[in-house]
Amino acid sequence: MNIPEFPFAEPYKIKTVEKIRRSTPEEREKWIKEAKYNLFKLKSYQVFIDLLTDSGTGAMSDEQWAEMMRGDESYAGSRSFDLLKETVERITGFKYLIPTHQGRGAENVLFSALVKEGDIIPGNMHFDTTKAHIELRKATALDCTIDEAYDTEHYHPFKGNVDLQKLEDAFKKYGRQRIPFVIVTVTCNTAGGQPVSMQNIREVSALCKKYGIPLYFDAARFAENTYFIKKREREFKDKSIKQIAKEMFSYADGMLMSAKKDGLVNIGGFIALKDEETYRKAIVYNILYEGFITYGGMAGRDMGALAVGLDEATEFDYLESRVEQVHYLGRRLMELEVPVQQPIGGHAIYLDANRFVPTIPREQFRAQSLAIELYKVGGIRGVEIGTIMADRDPVTRENRYPKLELVRLAIPRRVYSNNHMNFVAEVLKHIYGTRHEAKTGYRIVYEPPILRHFTVELEKI
Ligand code: F0G
Repeated sequence: MNIPEFPFAEPYKIKTVEKIRRSTPEEREKWIKEAKYNLFKLKSYQVFIDLLTDSGTGAMSDEQWAEMMRGDESYAGSRSFDLLKETVERITGFKYLIPTHQGRGAENVLFSALVKEGDIIPGNMHFDTTKAHIELRKATALDCTIDEAYDTEHYHPFKGNVDLQKLEDAFKKYGRQRIPFVIVTVTCNTAGGQPVSMQNIREVSALCKKYGIPLYFDAARFAENTYFIKKREREFKDKSIKQIAKEMFSYADGMLMSAKKDGLVNIGGFIALKDEETYRKAIVYNILYEGFITYGGMAGRDMGALAVGLDEATEFDYLESRVEQVHYLGRRLMELEVPVQQPIGGHAIYLDANRFVPTIPREQFRAQSLAIELYKVGGIRGVEIGTIMADRDPVTRENRYPKLELVRLAIPRRVYSNNHMNFVAEVLKHIYGTRHEAKTGYRIVYEPPILRHFTVELEKI
């Protein structure tokens, strides 16, 4: 029986806890100033609720810890590798497995084998490191996401979908010679953790087949994507998560995985492939950059924990409590009329700083100012996805002002309670109530030439 008010109670109980500390406003004022108003420079003990990322920050289960103890650390032919390989094949159908140290390691290996100068890689919005690995090879990441994804107030159940017309136009223009593959990110992080529908995946796959172009998934959050398919596409209402995952992967030629998300581990990643030829090409680079083919940058124990994590992440009860916790916070904020990107995605809430603090001039970094305020008031750490992260124009060296100024609050898996979510909502309610007092932001006193958000230094205006 499902009690209607509490259908999302966590399907686990807590065995170990880690202390976190609520600091005072005076302490936080001092710490953030010492950190040059860059949240990446804070020490973890200075943060009460850490929503910087959902990557590698989740809690492992007792079963995963048990598998850690059984880890086989043999350089070659490790039992833990076999366990991972069998699990990946059972869940995805992909036969060839290449372990890597994390998601970007997988990008580096696969793209070394497949991407050359002048190539075009279409997909829905590419994640930063994916794009950077494409551009590093003097190729272009082509964004073919549906237009609806760019409107934060517009409801669409699958805002991560690929626009088939845009994709076919690219196929016609560049052909197989310049398009080595298509990459679809499920769920699409850059679009706000938005899912891609099975219908869209089928159509993209059919189009790729028609033009003879392989299709890969960036599957960092594939399990969360299957949850949305089950909830929002009628055809899948009664299918299990594992059945949905199997069908989803059947339409692709392979996948790249940052296991730090839906692998439920703190470090790790892999490439999984259908065909032997691509596998043979890729393992050369794996040995060069990551490690031998049966560990590739992971300890045996980490591969074991990942195998168990993949099974746990593809259980409906876990996924329901996970995604619904994110939506719980989203709903609370919407009730308070705090401006958030809609619909809420699978792993994070995105605050819309343009609507939240329009009184702060854009040149003074609205989203960063809001992220700093959230830390000062509640000790909560989010991340700016706005002008600072967008870097300067490489030619004019002027600031680039993206359409959206967002603060991402990413929720780690199995880590915080809904009481923590209530606390976040209360803090935001307070900040929202006093938003008209915010008139000035910050100016940059130091910045590197690229990827400045990690090390930028600011001062208050
Ligand atoms: N692909 C997606 C969709 C990602 O979100 C990430 C990482 C990666 C690839 C790269 O994987 O970090 O294991 O090398 N996203 C993290 C985040 C960093 O905070 O969203 P990685």
